[in-house]
Amino acid sequence: MLPSIVVLASGSGSNLQSIIQQVNRGHIKAEIAAVVSDNPDAMALVRAQAAGIDSVSIRRSGHASREAWELALMEKVSKYQPALVVLAGFMQILSERFIAHFEKRIMNIHPSLLPAYRGLNTHQRVIDAGDSEHGATVHFVTPKLDDGPVIMQSRVRVSSGDNALELAGRVLEQEHIIYPEAIRQFIEGKISFDNPRCH
Ligand code: GAR
Repeated sequence: MLPSIVVLASGSGSNLQSIIQQVNRGHIKAEIAAVVSDNPDAMALVRAQAAGIDSVSIRRSGHASREAWELALMEKVSKYQPALVVLAGFMQILSERFIAHFEKRIMNIHPSLLPAYRGLNTHQRVIDAGDSEHGATVHFVTPKLDDGPVIMQSRVRVSSGDNALELAGRVLEQEHIIYPEAIRQFIEGKISFDNPRCH
């Protein structure tokens, strides 16, 4: 049986699409068992349905507390017994309890060259700082936001006339290359939380 992956996504799901493509091509030898979103309108859910993947939405507002919402999320994800939980544009902060539950097997992609520019609006912040270089980072998740062992990074040059949208598009192109590759190497046992660097 193939190892299973659960993807958590809040938005457009273009990273999810790049992962689906590499699974379908047989480059990632795993099954995407489910895509789970906190946003019922996420395009990521439509992409999952189109690919014949279970799609589930668990809305924060449908639960009395953040803890109750996260517990529901944790229980749902656990049902699929994932070898890997992939955060692909998942815009909720996960607690220590959730992260400990899937210890050493949660990956995230972040649109900056971590440790630079944790948090939101990374592209505009890079432009405002006048940086000449920007990029994306795949890393394992720890309880500290946008932190944890770096798996892979890709760099893009920032041109003087760039706006945040153009820059985001160029970074996203790189994300679509490095995220499936990091997942492939994890599934093949080439990298792990304790040996994170992709080759
Ligand atoms: C991506 O750029 C991803 O790096 C970013 O959200 C976008 C999702 O795009 N993630 C974060 O900012 C997480 N801190 P997608 O929905 O098209 O994959």
